[in-house]
Amino acid sequence: MTAVDLDAYARDGFLVLEDFVSQTDCDDLRARAAELVAGFDPGPIRTVFSTRDQGHARERYFRESGQAIHFFFEEEATDQPVSLALNKIGHALHDLDPVFDRISRRPQFAALANALGLEQPLLLQSMYLFKQPRIGAEVGWHQDATYLHTRPSTVLGFWLALDDADRDNGCLMALPGAHRGPLRQRFRQVGNEMVTTVLDPTPWPDIEPVALEARRGTLVVLHGLLPHGSAPNRSPRQRHAYALHLVDARADYLPDNWLQRPGLPLRGFA
Ligand code: FE2
Repeated sequence: MTAVDLDAYARDGFLVLEDFVSQTDCDDLRARAAELVAGFDPGPIRTVFSTRDQGHARERYFRESGQAIHFFFEEEATDQPVSLALNKIGHALHDLDPVFDRISRRPQFAALANALGLEQPLLLQSMYLFKQPRIGAEVGWHQDATYLHTRPSTVLGFWLALDDADRDNGCLMALPGAHRGPLRQRFRQVGNEMVTTVLDPTPWPDIEPVALEARRGTLVVLHGLLPHGSAPNRSPRQRHAYALHLVDARADYLPDNWLQRPGLPLRGFA
């Protein structure tokens, strides 16, 4: 692996590593996702995700996705075929699907996690992100530690471009250096409800956002406290990506995180 610029990561809260993953691995992930989609029968699930009064079933399907492979539709999807209507697949692809498992556990990811300070990395969550042509939704500014919190915070995001991502098709945007600010919110389970709790009302700093344009095969590394998001995709081009979130086993994983895996213990890279 090429030397990681730890100074840039400490300063900016992100890294953009070109050609980090082979084109073959990118092809394999895309092909496998297409197979999973082809084998997915949305039937009643699609109703769940397009009907407002099904909130309960929808929430349960989401909560159970932490230890499953579940499919989530775009809010703006109407009559598109399923392959052009999905927002994402999540959240245990890396443990339950052999192709995602193999590529997620490539040695270069393990070495990178170690280099960035995770001594005992655990692969917590994976998402195949579609960002469909024309209807791919905006992802608002957020910190990943809002959704996946350990004490102390250790969550680390790996975001792999499976298509060239640029401003037109909704590449990642980030506020450089803003990972040094506090965690603002936590999304967590309270009883049977998912709630968002404000921890610190400090607004995002007044920093010019940067577009993290990434050619296919590029890995974007995101610090768990870095504010980031992405614009909607209004272009005719898809923008597929694969995201993997890691935590350090030495930190406490909070029992009120939405993602709980009672039936599927977390694994590292081994
Ligand atoms: Fe994120």
